[in-house]
Amino acid sequence: MPGPSVLTRRRNAALAAWYAAHRRDLPWRGETDPYRVLVAEVMLQQTQAPRVVEPYRRFLDRYPTAADLAAAPAADVLAAWQGLGYNRRALRLREAARRIEAGGWPAPGDLASLPGVGPYTAAAVACFAFGRQVAAPDTNARRVLSRWLGRPLDGAALRDAAAGELAGDAADWNQAVMDLGALVCRPRDPSCGRCPVAAWCADPSVYEPPRPQGHFEGSTREARGAVVRHLAGHGPATAEEIARASGLPVERAAAAATALAAEGMIDADGGLLRLPR
Ligand code: ADE
Repeated sequence: MPGPSVLTRRRNAALAAWYAAHRRDLPWRGETDPYRVLVAEVMLQQTQAPRVVEPYRRFLDRYPTAADLAAAPAADVLAAWQGLGYNRRALRLREAARRIEAGGWPAPGDLASLPGVGPYTAAAVACFAFGRQVAAPDTNARRVLSRWLGRPLDGAALRDAAAGELAGDAADWNQAVMDLGALVCRPRDPSCGRCPVAAWCADPSVYEPPRPQGHFEGSTREARGAVVRHLAGHGPATAEEIARASGLPVERAAAAATALAAEGMIDADGGLLRLPR
């Protein structure tokens, strides 16, 4: 196989020098404990790094090991998840901790078999915790690599492109690309004038902004959040009681409860809703 192109080598050298000088000091940087890395990466799935720092510390104080998280009641886990949203992640993370406690960690190539762990998170944990030399392109890296290569990348094409660009230590390279995306190569303001790799970038205009969240999606999430918060704060309740307490129309509370129950996020037992044990 041919080695990386001259362009790729120059770009990576400039990236590495920039990263050495500008890397963000984040509490999960350099962390290699698989559980702690998994907690960070699940939190980072839908939340920007600066907003994860405090919840990450708080959550690990409360649940320092997978065994602690596996044994925790759902309501407590959701309380510890506060500030992050997308609560489903918290319960899936507890489910992953239970699997790990019961059967040990999957092989590094098989981490996506854990609940809530998609291809990105699996690659990130394999790299940061298990030392695998693999690319783990997150949404920042997706944007950076799309611009470098001059075409929008996603899914398998993104992973293949990242694998072709990766050089040096994979943990450093992945985090350098993430930091470049977060600090310089911003979605709407690529700041090419201060970008260390602008000379080797194909097309900074390549970027597809995320679709604005539809009204329906937003309101569904709001109703789901209200149901879960009520059950975590007050214990078992009916959809009517939650509607009355939260101000949601009763149909929306009931529809959210039905959807949450179908996903196993809550138990619905003859109309009485509760968090799973
Ligand atoms: N986004 C996803 N994973 C990240 C990480 N490890 N550091 C910074 N941002 C991230």
